Amino acid sequence: MFRLVLALSWLRLVSSSSWSALNDSLDGSLFSARPLALPCFSSFNNTPVHPDPSACALLQQNYSNATYKSSLYPNTMQPEWGTCMTTHSQCLLDYTDPTNPLAFLDASCDQGSISPYYIDVRSPQDVLTAFSFANATGIPLSIKNSGHDYKGRSNIPSSLALWTRNLNSMTYNASFVPEGCPSSQSYNTITTGAGNNFQDLYAFADQNNVTLIGGYAQTVGASGGWVMGGGHSVLSPVYGLGIDRVLQFLVVTPSGLTLTANSCQNTDLFWALRGGGGGTFGVVLESTHRVEGRLSMQVASLSMNATSTNMRAYYEILVNNSMQWASEGWGGHIVDSAINYVTPLLSLAEAQASMEPIASYVTSQGGSVVIETMDSWYDYFEKYVVPTQESVARLLAIGSRLMPQSVFISPTLSSQLVDLLLTFPLVYIPVVGPVLYNETAANETSATPAWRDSLWHVNTGLMWYFNTSTADVNANFGLVHNYTLAMTEIAPDSGAYLNEGDVYQSDHETAFWGDNYSELLSIKQKYDPWGLLDCWQCVGWKGHSNKDFECYFPSP
Ligand SMILES: Cc1cc2nc3c(=O)[nH]c(=O)nc-3n(C[C@H](O)[C@H](O)[C@H](O)COP(=O)(O)OP(=O)(O)OC[C@H]3O[C@@H](n4cnc5c(N)ncnc54)[C@H](O)[C@@H]3O)c2cc1C
Ligand SMILES: *[C@@H]1O[C@H](CO)[C@@H](O)[C@H](O)[C@H]1NC(C)=O
Ligand SMILES: *[C@@H]1O[C@H](CO)[C@@H](O)[C@H](O)[C@H]1NC(C)=O
Ligand SMILES: *[C@@H]1O[C@H](CO)[C@@H](O)[C@H](O)[C@H]1NC(C)=O
Ligand SMILES: *[C@@H]1O[C@H](CO)[C@@H](O)[C@H](O)[C@H]1NC(C)=O
Ligand SMILES: *[C@@H]1O[C@H](CO)[C@@H](O)[C@H](O)[C@H]1NC(C)=O
Ligand SMILES: *[C@@H]1O[C@H](CO)[C@@H](O)[C@H](O)[C@H]1NC(C)=O
Ligand SMILES: *[C@@H]1O[C@H](CO)[C@@H](O)[C@H](O)[C@H]1NC(C)=O
Ligand SMILES: *[C@@H]1O[C@H](CO)[C@@H](O)[C@H](O)[C@H]1NC(C)=O
Ligand SMILES: *[C@@H]1O[C@H](CO)[C@@H](O)[C@H](O)[C@H]1NC(C)=O
Ligand SMILES: *[C@@H]1O[C@H](CO)[C@@H](O)[C@H](O)[C@H]1NC(C)=O
Ligand SMILES: *[C@@H]1O[C@H](CO)[C@@H](O)[C@H](O)[C@H]1NC(C)=O
Ligand SMILES: *[C@@H]1O[C@H](CO)[C@@H](O)[C@H](O)[C@H]1NC(C)=O
Repeated sequence: MFRLVLALSWLRLVSSSSWSALNDSLDGSLFSARPLALPCFSSFNNTPVHPDPSACALLQQNYSNATYKSSLYPNTMQPEWGTCMTTHSQCLLDYTDPTNPLAFLDASCDQGSISPYYIDVRSPQDVLTAFSFANATGIPLSIKNSGHDYKGRSNIPSSLALWTRNLNSMTYNASFVPEGCPSSQSYNTITTGAGNNFQDLYAFADQNNVTLIGGYAQTVGASGGWVMGGGHSVLSPVYGLGIDRVLQFLVVTPSGLTLTANSCQNTDLFWALRGGGGGTFGVVLESTHRVEGRLSMQVASLSMNATSTNMRAYYEILVNNSMQWASEGWGGHIVDSAINYVTPLLSLAEAQASMEPIASYVTSQGGSVVIETMDSWYDYFEKYVVPTQESVARLLAIGSRLMPQSVFISPTLSSQLVDLLLTFPLVYIPVVGPVLYNETAANETSATPAWRDSLWHVNTGLMWYFNTSTADVNANFGLVHNYTLAMTEIAPDSGAYLNEGDVYQSDHETAFWGDNYSELLSIKQKYDPWGLLDCWQCVGWKGHSNKDFECYFPSP
């Protein structure tokens, strides 16, 4: 409650006439936002309101539908980030059954961390107007594209939000030259507005008979947090990370400039945007990515029923074979007792021989094994990724560590890793380290160099419910933090992926950026001299005690 009162009094400092003046100067692209589930409730911020049963029913039907949710500003794919966890200020349905009336009858819907106002960004001028407004009023800014962020970085309570989802241009250019570069530097590319997500781009690339290397989700954006934080793909072992493949950004910086950043101009900013993280150096309006030709690839999709007795051998086989598989171009995901791996480098017969150790084990356990050729990335995506999309309504906290090759070479560390995986509440391992990729030097990007040597990006996580107590939610973050520390003990000199990391990551500067942090900080200060952009554990973060971060727990 205290938090809410504070938020409201803060907003009152800016009178409604200034908001309408802001709207006028934006040609009407300022909107107010309320929690998505509000139509189900009869109390909002402790004031009676009329529920809207038909709007509530639509939301209930689409509560886990990422396509639906990504078209709406208030969405956060992990709904806890739209709440204020420390004050239990929330507006949640029961994701296990969105029609469960216990979630919304006799319960109040609160604004939580959802910005009361957002700008539907359409031009550089919209962003410049927001920067001046924030600078003059002290109102914090936040930036959101898809709302997928696992650490809540696309929401700041009481902020003026910049929503980039409707920047939707896409162009294919087989001979793109980054602006200001010599014409000999010509690339096969797709340039995309900041609002397009992977579903849009994979379809567009397919129509142009090329392959865009991107994430394992329909609605993650290609130009926002994904690419600025690292950007992994199951094809990254062969074709690199998002930060390796991006050639140019169009970005509006808080210093008031609209800049094209690439390897020939504004190179410091380009380097910072290639791994320094979203929401930090400016608002990206457009990005250009190198594409590959149409790819045929081998897919290995295996799953078995997990029992306490068969998982040790399963993980041992995965760990023991990983160096060999990495040399053959395999990347993929391990999700508990299922794996989905791809390689563009082997024939079908080679793929079958390569996967034999795990295929025969899974078969022996009564599981299912499919190894087949897909003629394009798009066919693969439609067949394997779309139907198994991660649910986007769960209240979920994750933590992770990049596991370097040294762990897989050492029998001692390998067995420690298996022991640890067996204790996890859930296992999610993107096998995405860019181990065969050598076209971008590590120092051209600013994410932790630990990526370059890593085979696995090991995650665990915990889920809870709409009615879990504040103390228990806090304890879940604490347990995930502790699992992250246990992973860190196995690979103390490695790092972590900032987009899929422990929310309460210890020594986050070193974990996410290694030795690059101090240079990133000076670039941050150059392009954001008045500190208009900030987010949790981002470069130049003002710190936990800043009032923008009151909804994060005092400690995990
Ligand atoms: C279901 C799911 C699947 C995922 N799959 C993958 C995967 O396959 N590979 C992978 O690497 N990661 C994956 N992720 C993690 C993903 O990279 C992060 O969630 C990432 O932050 C998403 O970026 P976004 O811009 O789409 O999301 P948002 O939450 O909108 O933004 C994330 C961050 O970027 C900033 N930002 C967004 N747009 C802009 C912009 N235009 N300019 C400046 N800053 C901006 C925001 O302020 C925020 O800090 C997945 C996440 C989920 C929930
Ligand atoms: C801003 O103006 C547009 C167009 O007049 C209007 O639709 C919108 O509701 C206004 N936004 C706010 C927050 O009042
Ligand atoms: C919500 O989901 C239902 C059924 O799943 C679908 O028919 C409907 O079109 C969806 N509504 C919106 C607004 O997307
Ligand atoms: C999800 O939402 C999209 C967009 O609103 C809609 O087209 C689609 O039908 C929905 N899917 C389901 C399964 O309801
Ligand atoms: C922000 O305010 C400072 C003075 O406090 C001023 O010098 C600067 O020009 C302002 N920047 C923007 C983008 O408005
Ligand atoms: C492709 O890029 C080149 C060089 O940057 C430019 O001259 C050309 O007009 C672009 N073509 C298209 C179709 O945009
Ligand atoms: C698509 O690309 C593939 C591989 O590069 C090529 O063999 C094929 O002819 C192309 N198809 C079309 C329609 O251009
Ligand atoms: C797992 O077990 C369930 C029920 O025991 C069965 O329906 C399912 O097919 C099994 N899955 C696999 C992959 O063997
Ligand atoms: C994995 O390798 C270790 C030695 O490094 C060995 O002890 C173990 O038996 C192997 N496990 C399997 C299932 O092959
Ligand atoms: C880069 O990798 C390719 C393919 O694996 C290999 O042929 C090439 O020799 C490597 N180049 C360098 C400079 O290591
Ligand atoms: C990366 O390192 C190489 C050689 O070590 C150097 O020539 C190059 O300038 C560096 N690039 C950047 C962006 O620092
Ligand atoms: C939360 O709600 C579920 C389902 O409505 C109920 O079974 C459970 O007991 C509730 N838990 C708490 C802590 O109230
Ligand atoms: C995490 O580990 C610390 C240190 O061992 C312990 O004090 C704390 O209780 C643990 N947190 C949770 C939530 O279990």
